[in-house]
Amino acid sequence: MLNVQALTKKFGGFTAVSSISFDLAEGEILGLIGPNGSGKSTTFNLIAGLYAPTAGSIRFQGREIGGLSATQVCHAGIGRTFQIPRPFRKLSVIENVTLAAYYGQAGRVSEAEARRQAADALDLIGLPHARGEGIDGLGAAALKKLEMARALATQPRLLLADESLGGLDEAEMEQAADMLRMIRRERNITIIWVEHIMGVLMRVVDRVIVLDHGEIISAGLPAEVAADPKVIEVYLGSDAAEVQEHARGRDDGARR
Ligand SMILES: Nc1ncnc2c1ncn2[C@@H]1O[C@H](COP(=O)(O)OP(=O)(O)OP(=O)(O)O)[C@@H](O)[C@H]1O
Ligand SMILES: [Mg+2]
Repeated sequence: MLNVQALTKKFGGFTAVSSISFDLAEGEILGLIGPNGSGKSTTFNLIAGLYAPTAGSIRFQGREIGGLSATQVCHAGIGRTFQIPRPFRKLSVIENVTLAAYYGQAGRVSEAEARRQAADALDLIGLPHARGEGIDGLGAAALKKLEMARALATQPRLLLADESLGGLDEAEMEQAADMLRMIRRERNITIIWVEHIMGVLMRVVDRVIVLDHGEIISAGLPAEVAADPKVIEVYLGSDAAEVQEHARGRDDGARR
């Protein structure tokens, strides 16, 4: 589904993403992890068309998309959520998601169809919208759901989920993890998931890629990556034993 080759992004003299290569198969949930500033969001921004690559290639369903605009990439079938949700504050929940459905698809959809797709996405995610609910009352967990619904409303085949579940409690984090599994199951959407909370991520993903200083330092099954000395050194540290336990205890629901 996705083939990334020698992808590089420089900001001036600083290399944020340094010649990374990986493949993604349809139906996979891939975890993209690594320390703060290791290049995860930049990788998403490259795939999603916010930045043009300095070098390298990004092929999606056989077509080169590196350097396309964010709109073109979205229309090609790649949805993304942002690490920091920024909904339109003056619009209601359903209006925010309807906008995404209306402008996020390659083919023209009517306003009524966009609204129906928005309602579908919100129902799937479990965010109330029928009474014209506004944005102001939404807490951190609900804002993340809204972000997800906006991405889903564009009808993606590949979803880039840049999460930071840090602000959520344990139950909300579990819910967010279940949501990704449910999205794959119900909509057959392939997912790349960026997240720092390893206990949640390791139980959901099929495969993990670890970035450090813009380079891939490890890749493989969750249990393999969690036991990799390089990953323990730069990222997991004293949490390694606990993360390994999570990686070994993956739910069957996570497997295809
Ligand atoms: N637009 C930009 N201009 C200059 N430097 C940038 C830009 N965007 C990101 N960077 C730098 O590139 C590096 C990678 O940043 P990125 O946001 O991709 O990290 P990340 O892995 O998503 O981190 P986090 O886990 O904190 O979200 C950082 O050093 C960051 O400061
Ligand atoms: Mg980031």
